[in-house]
Amino acid sequence: MNFENIQSQTDNGLTTITINRPTKLNALNKATISELHDALEAADQDKNVKVIIITGSGEKAFVAGADISEFAHFDVKNGQKLAAKGQELLFDFIENLSTPVIAAVNGFALGGGLELAMACHFRVASDNAKMGLPEVSLGVIPGYGGTQRLPQLVGKGRAMELIMTAGMIDANTALNYGLVNHVTTQEELLPLAQNIASKIMRNSSVAIKAAIKAINANYKEGVNGYHVEVEQFGECFGTDDFKEGTSAFLQKREADFPGE
Ligand code: COA
Repeated sequence: MNFENIQSQTDNGLTTITINRPTKLNALNKATISELHDALEAADQDKNVKVIIITGSGEKAFVAGADISEFAHFDVKNGQKLAAKGQELLFDFIENLSTPVIAAVNGFALGGGLELAMACHFRVASDNAKMGLPEVSLGVIPGYGGTQRLPQLVGKGRAMELIMTAGMIDANTALNYGLVNHVTTQEELLPLAQNIASKIMRNSSVAIKAAIKAINANYKEGVNGYHVEVEQFGECFGTDDFKEGTSAFLQKREADFPGE
């Protein structure tokens, strides 16, 4: 697949997607959102891909937000369409992907950039990262899920303060808030994400898919997460991965999961 705004590379079951508009601090324009959707969909459909990492190119930014130049002239209807389309194509899409997605936050993650990181299944950051939702400083609110996912991750009070002040927090504060799972140097960021990915890859991709569904069910309105867990737990018993995982344990050998 040929992309203009991103790079996507797959090695040994790991797809790394790099948002590549460094002169615009990797701001998410319409074309980038569409390319990210296509790259993620292709990786998710590739049976050999077990984990996806999303990061930004350059040393300064993960993503400095939605591209302000694209929506500065929008009216109410266009504003709603922008948020709805973006959520559908990218943010909800990532959250509900079967393949685990890790955000490697390597600098500014602001507005749509932090919303992108929060839509990923979890986040790691470099020590120069700065995160925030500055939308109210532009006269708008986060529209790519930020008002929902930030309180889920850091609690309502902290989310209210961060959104109302349009402030930025550094990587260690984000770690302390539980917004990112680990902080390391810029050089060690991708190796750290790759190391976590390699641990995930040893496990059953079918069971991981079921776990993502069950965990996400807790955050879906009108859905009983415990019921989804029971259903997904049961489904696992019908898979070849379950047969292999339990047989390998009983035979005291390492499992070789077929991923089915
Ligand atoms: N949308 C469009 N362009 C953006 C952008 C965004 N969200 N963020 C940065 N850019 C562009 C700048 O316009 C500039 O382009 P130019 O060189 O053609 O003028 C380039 O990226 C570099 O940014 P610059 O502001 O010069 O870098 P800086 O180091 O001085 O400041 C930031 C870095 C992140 C603090 C600053 O770019 C910023 O505040 N960006 C907007 C963040 C934001 O409000 N995001 C939420 C959007 S909803």
